[in-house]
Amino acid sequence: MSAGAGAVRTDVSLLMSPLTLRGTTFRNRAWLAPMCQYSAGTDGVPTDWHLAHLGARAVGGFGLVLTEATAVVPEGRITPQDVGIWDDAQVAAWRRITDFVRSRGAHVGVQLAHAGRKASTYRGFGEGSGTVPAEDGGWATVGPSDLAFAGYAAPQEMTPEQVAAVPGQFAAATRRALDAGFDLVEVHAAHGYLLHQFLSPLSNLRADDWGGTLAGRARLLLDTVDAVRAVLGEDRPLLVRVSATDWTDGGLTVEDVAQVSVWLREHGVDLVDVSTGGNVHATIPVGPGYQVPAARAIRETARVATSAVGLITTAEQAEQVLAEGAADAVMLGRPALFDPHWPLRAAHALDDKTPVLAHAGDPAATVLPDQPTGWPVQYARGSWA
Ligand SMILES: Cc1cc2nc3c(=O)[nH]c(=O)nc-3n(C[C@H](O)[C@H](O)[C@H](O)COP(=O)(O)O)c2cc1C
Repeated sequence: MSAGAGAVRTDVSLLMSPLTLRGTTFRNRAWLAPMCQYSAGTDGVPTDWHLAHLGARAVGGFGLVLTEATAVVPEGRITPQDVGIWDDAQVAAWRRITDFVRSRGAHVGVQLAHAGRKASTYRGFGEGSGTVPAEDGGWATVGPSDLAFAGYAAPQEMTPEQVAAVPGQFAAATRRALDAGFDLVEVHAAHGYLLHQFLSPLSNLRADDWGGTLAGRARLLLDTVDAVRAVLGEDRPLLVRVSATDWTDGGLTVEDVAQVSVWLREHGVDLVDVSTGGNVHATIPVGPGYQVPAARAIRETARVATSAVGLITTAEQAEQVLAEGAADAVMLGRPALFDPHWPLRAAHALDDKTPVLAHAGDPAATVLPDQPTGWPVQYARGSWA
């Protein structure tokens, strides 16, 4: 396993210990989960909002800051307000953000995505629901088969030529991501988006080489991973987000996705980011850490590093996930929206090393465990008591 147990420090919590994947050492294991911000224009160019959202979490101490689902082609956007990386014009705007995030001591990754049959939807701000029609800026969607996600327009079944083009689209996006200063790539193969649609027998009814058996359904994902790795080089980490189960009879199971994770490891993926669901409407037993057992099963079965995500809210809970060997890192979504400084507080809670308030003049201020004591300590203790 590439998680590098040797990187764990004995003088701080597991959560605040560095993690090394290939040539990258993350300052800690509290990572920002990818979260759509629905705040770009139709050109897919990230805005000041994205700088503020991602920059604030870098200041707040996250070890890895991941972008939201970032479309590799315009028709792969989930909503018309999604960011993209299909155009060289988007690269400079991303560069401004990656420069700032890295200046705060965090690493920065891009989640590359194609939404497939779940593209062209409303963003949930009350403007409408379901598929956005063409007159409102929407577009025709594609998928492995012409099966609709319930409530959305039916996609066009992709031709073999269209399927074969997908790995190249992810590879071209990876080239731009490197130009934009990203440290790593996460391929989005979860939540019912295109690569998950191919993986799942509930959405992939193809009779050709991209359907049928689990190996056939996994082919597009593995080809995509290979194409991304070829551009990324050997030194940078490659992550894949999976949905470990469809939570539905006849759909993907944890055992299926553990097998896919074996193949991902064999294809050079460094960490599997374990989420669940999203491909069909299902009843999901949501509760604290409800996806952690899937992360653990995949880590143990596939012998690949994992991250756990989903209703992990406290520092102690995150530390427990790592201590029990379920994952090598923990991702925070909504808790990071609620508190951009979640890792600073976690370090304070777990290690009794008081975080120093981050400030612009000193990038080292967010490297928590080694902070000297001083006036900011008193301020922080007083304000958090
Ligand atoms: C506003 C919002 C947007 C999200 N967008 C994405 C996304 O772009 N890509 C993705 O993989 N997951 C996305 N997610 C899922 C989160 O990454 C995370 O898996 C989920 O929120 C569960 O973690 P939490 O309980 O810590 O929030 C989103 C979640 C939220 C709340």
